[in-house]
Amino acid sequence: MPTRVWRIGLVGFGNVGQGFVRILARKREELRKRYGFEFKIVGIADPIKGSVYDSEGLDPKLLVKLVDEKGHIKDYPGGRKDIDSLTICRSGDIDIVVEVTPTNIETGEPGLTHIRVALEHGKHVVTSNKGPIAVAYPELKELAERKGVMLRFEGVVLSGTPAINLALEAMAGVDITKVEGIVNGTTNFILTKMEEGMSYEEALREAQRLGYAEADPTMDVEGWDAAIKAVIIANVLMDARITIKDVEREGITKITPEDVKEALRNGQRIKLLMRVVREGGNVRASVKPERINLSHPLANVVGVTNALTFYTDHLGPVTIVGPGAGRIETGQAILSDILAIHRYHTRFR
Ligand SMILES: NC(=O)c1ccc[n+]([C@@H]2O[C@H](COP(=O)([O-])OP(=O)(O)OC[C@H]3O[C@@H](n4cnc5c(N)ncnc54)[C@H](OP(=O)(O)O)[C@@H]3O)[C@@H](O)[C@H]2O)c1
Repeated sequence: MPTRVWRIGLVGFGNVGQGFVRILARKREELRKRYGFEFKIVGIADPIKGSVYDSEGLDPKLLVKLVDEKGHIKDYPGGRKDIDSLTICRSGDIDIVVEVTPTNIETGEPGLTHIRVALEHGKHVVTSNKGPIAVAYPELKELAERKGVMLRFEGVVLSGTPAINLALEAMAGVDITKVEGIVNGTTNFILTKMEEGMSYEEALREAQRLGYAEADPTMDVEGWDAAIKAVIIANVLMDARITIKDVEREGITKITPEDVKEALRNGQRIKLLMRVVREGGNVRASVKPERINLSHPLANVVGVTNALTFYTDHLGPVTIVGPGAGRIETGQAILSDILAIHRYHTRFR
C-alpha cells in the first residue's frame, strides 16, 4: 500500500481541534497500517490555548497531555511560539490546514480569511466551521478548484455522522429534491425533556448543566444554528445561492408544556424541523417547530441525537441518525475528510 506523510496545521485548538488531535494520538499506528496514512502536526495556532510550530512535527500525545493537565499548550517543550493563525495558513511546511475556529454566521470570520489564505497558498483545507461555508461556499469552491486543492467540510452539519459527503459522494448522481431533519441536539433535548414533564426553563437549565447548551442559548433555541445548516445544505447540495436571511425561522422558546402534551395526546411529537425544498428553479429553506405523527421517521429521534432525511429520485428517502456534536465526533469528521484527501492522492493516482 502506498504511504504518504501529510503535514497538518491546526487553526483553533478548542473542542474540535483537541478531539481531532486526540484521535491522531490514539490511532497513529492503525492509520498507517490500514490506510498508509502518516502525519506530522507541524503547527497549532490558538490565542488562548497557545501556539506552537515545529516543521519536524509535534507529538500529539504530549499535546493532549498538556491540554488535559494545564488547559493550554504554551509550555510545549521546543518549537516556535511566535506564530499566529496566518503563519499556519501560509506555511510552506504544511499540506493540510484544519480550520476549527468559532462559527460567525454573519461574516464567517475569522475562518473565512483563514480558508481563503490557505487555499490561495495551495493548501487543502478541512473545516467544521459553518460560517465560511454558509457565507462564501461558491467563492471558496471556485478558489479551491483554481488552485487544484480540496476544500472539505463534513463536520458542518452533523459533526461526524455522514451528511455532506454521503450526499455528494456516496449518493453521487441522485437528484435531491428535499432534505428534512433534526439538526440541533440542544433543542431536541429540551423538547424531549418537556415531554417528560419539565418546563421549558427547567429543560434549558438541564441542557446547560450537561454542557449541551451555551450560557447564552440564543443560537440554538431561536433556530439560528439549524438555519445556517439549512443554508449550507441548500447551497452545497442544491446549487442554491441563499443566505441566512432567506431562511424562514422560528425557534422553540414559545413552546409550552401544554403544547407538547396536546401533541402527544394526538399521537404526535413537536420537533424543531429544518427543511430545504427544491421546486423547479427555487429552493426554500425553513426551520420551525412542527407536530409530526409518531409514525414519521424523525419522531423517534430523541435527546441530543440528530437525523436527516434526503429525498432522492433514485433511492427515495434515505435517513441517517447519529450524533450532531461532540469533540471526538467532530474530530472524526475532520479525520474522514483528511483520509479522503489521502485516498485521492495515493490509490487513485
Ligand atoms: N463542538 C462541536 O460539537 C462542533 C460540531 C460541529 C461543528 N462545530 C464547529 O467547529 C468549530 C470549532 O468548534 P469548537 O467546539 O472546537 O469551538 P471552540 O471550543 O470555541 O474552539 C475554537 C477555538 O478557536 C480559537 N480561536 C478563535 N479565534 C481564533 C483565531 N483567529 N485563530 C486561531 N484560533 C482562534 C478559540 O479561542 P477563543 O476561545 O479565544 O475564542 C477557541 O480556542 C466551530 O466553528 C463550531 O461551530 C463544532
